[in-house]
Amino acid sequence: MTITSQPDANQFDTVALEYDFMAKLFHSPQPFINYMTQQKTCALDLGCGSGLLVTELAKHYRHVIGVDMSYNMLEIAHARRNAPNIDYILADIEQLSLPEQFDYIISKNVFHHVTNIAVIIARIKSWLKPGGRLMITDVISSNPTPPQYVYRIGAIQEYIPNVIQYGLANANRVYRFRTSKHWLNHLASDQYLSEKEFRCIFEGLLPSCTFPDNGFVIWDKVKI
Ligand SMILES: C[S@@+](CC[C@H](N)C(=O)[O-])C[C@H]1O[C@@H](n2cnc3c(N)ncnc32)[C@H](O)[C@@H]1O
Repeated sequence: MTITSQPDANQFDTVALEYDFMAKLFHSPQPFINYMTQQKTCALDLGCGSGLLVTELAKHYRHVIGVDMSYNMLEIAHARRNAPNIDYILADIEQLSLPEQFDYIISKNVFHHVTNIAVIIARIKSWLKPGGRLMITDVISSNPTPPQYVYRIGAIQEYIPNVIQYGLANANRVYRFRTSKHWLNHLASDQYLSEKEFRCIFEGLLPSCTFPDNGFVIWDKVKI
């Protein structure tokens, strides 16, 4: 693991192990696989967490870099999802400098944590090779962040369907995580864009981008 800057410990450090369990259980890499580029030299995952998407991309790309500011998330990624063609960098993506250019840059559920989207998008554009592609997905919501009891009710409602789909032990673990103090505090501090705001911001920053689904944006850097 390379450390390029010393980010402050973030909320994901506290929940890393349980977040990885959840992410693995509900993991769906398919949209990022469907939109892979034809050129497959180098890919980058911004806010890679415990490396679930990095490891999928590494089956296709010659070199994949995952960047995250949570030491504990990257420790799990390093231990569980490593390969000779994978590098993990501990850094804040808002202060990142990178040694190479990429065919494919992805980011899943990270942009609602970012302070200055415009600055990051400008940097991403410079990290993409001509002909390269950016794909971002994020959580969106038309409603303001709800109070914690709403998340607790959601966890109760999901419990039986989760028992049926994933078994009792997994459903119990999901329930414990979703109603844990750390996770509820984290959710309380999250602020999401609405779909309208999401589209408006990315249309402005990424001319000719497309939105294949709610909370998804794709942009291809024109070949010169
Ligand atoms: C909701 S998790 C998503 C993790 C992973 N993309 C996934 O889908 O499993 C958000 C991740 O973004 C990271 N993150 C948030 N802001 C960041 C920043 N400014 N620089 C680097 N990583 C960041 C957090 O540490 C966390 O691992």
